[in-house]
Amino acid sequence: MNGEKRTLWSGRFSEAAAESTLAFTSSLTVDRRLARYDVLGSMAHARMLGRQGIISSEDSETIQQGLREIMAMIEEDRLPVQERLEDIHSNIEFLLTDMIGEAGARLHTARSRNDQVVTDLRMFMRDATLDTMEALRSLQRAIMDRASDSLDIILPGFTHVQHAQPVTVGHWLMAHFFRLQRDSERLMDSYRRVNISPLGSAALAGTTYRIDRLYTSSLLGFEAPCPNSIDGVSDRDFVAEYLFAAALIAVHLSSLCEELVYWSSSEFGFLVMADAYSTGSSIMPQKKNPDVAELVRGRTGAAIGDLVNVLSTMKGLPTAYNRDLQEDKPAVFSTYDRLVPCLNMAAAMVATMVFNKERMLAACREGFLNATDLADYLAMRGLPFRRAHEVVGAAVRHAIELGKRLEELELDELRGFCDLIEEDVYSVLPMERCVARRTSIGGTSPEVTPMQLSQAMSVLRRQGDFIDRERSRTEKAFRSLMEQGPSQG
Ligand code: ARG
Repeated sequence: MNGEKRTLWSGRFSEAAAESTLAFTSSLTVDRRLARYDVLGSMAHARMLGRQGIISSEDSETIQQGLREIMAMIEEDRLPVQERLEDIHSNIEFLLTDMIGEAGARLHTARSRNDQVVTDLRMFMRDATLDTMEALRSLQRAIMDRASDSLDIILPGFTHVQHAQPVTVGHWLMAHFFRLQRDSERLMDSYRRVNISPLGSAALAGTTYRIDRLYTSSLLGFEAPCPNSIDGVSDRDFVAEYLFAAALIAVHLSSLCEELVYWSSSEFGFLVMADAYSTGSSIMPQKKNPDVAELVRGRTGAAIGDLVNVLSTMKGLPTAYNRDLQEDKPAVFSTYDRLVPCLNMAAAMVATMVFNKERMLAACREGFLNATDLADYLAMRGLPFRRAHEVVGAAVRHAIELGKRLEELELDELRGFCDLIEEDVYSVLPMERCVARRTSIGGTSPEVTPMQLSQAMSVLRRQGDFIDRERSRTEKAFRSLMEQGPSQG
């Protein structure tokens, strides 16, 4: 192999690949960030090869020592790479061989880049899943904290963006909490499927060497080796699953931000975004714009795009490694890189926005938010609800004509619509009462919202435990893998 022109496959080819081919097929700029995982995967593989007597223990030890040096280079950001070597995996292997000689050239025994790439990606995805869960958890925490302070702030609840029934800010916030909670559970559940080791699948058929897949799987902190080698190298459903969970989180964030954007407009004025998370205009001196919320909303399209991208790539593929699969990484990285900051910014916005209590309550004066309560009042006095609905509808029409609210109509006027109405009707019409009386499970009454809060508290605790446990488990595995010890042979 000529040092200058070498590629991974030089033996088979009589002519060097065109420079344009090398550039076109290279994934180095993208997969560079897998460097650390690649070293870990190779450490486990080399250790296993030595232990099984597939290579000598001296070679195994020399490889591991070289890999430790490469890990130091990565950590100090001084890893030399060559674009023509296609990807980070080949770069690390060739660098190792340059550093330690012959032993390095034995590392790729009983391994293919096909299983190597997907092993590295799964390790990355484990961390990405936990990071995403952690950022999600901080946002959920911020939402829960604000909600528990806002059980007495009443605002109009909307359906079709039309006034519907009054709710509390705490109740509205908790709706966002539980959406995100399901997202978090989705990630937690998908983690089990990510945490599987494809290492040892080799190119697709497994290998003739007496490898120990259980050993490499446990060295890398995986739950188990994948049961089928073809599936191991071809499957990317763990990628699609993360991207789906991420896209849905993005959609949920977008919906939250949509509300922050229009509720902070002067028409609504329900809340004021902190200056720290707003920006101004280059021409209009008075402006304070919710750009951060808009960008969180605006980045949703890209998240959905990444999911569609990977699903479309997977769709046409025969069951094995195909080069198309190289294209999974840009999608994963870009979604992950976008999503975590979106979650962090959303948490910051939620923690710092200021609610305009008076404005919200004043808005409740419009739109007959207590009409359902009047109908319920009649139904409780024996009128079938469908009749009560009609009676109140007529009363509302009358009130609109007079430019009055329901509670501003005289008792006689109200009784004109239905003589079941009595003086005590005025005690069910105030907004506070409408809110307070909705005590059904999950309802808006401040009496029952604490149930949601305590449920939220315990799921946050569970999530936190899961994240901590998994992080320390993989960190421990990696630490002992990188350590120099007597038992590595
Ligand atoms: N750079 C490729 C990737 O990231 C690795 C290629 C592995 N296999 C192959 N037969 N070309 O997917």
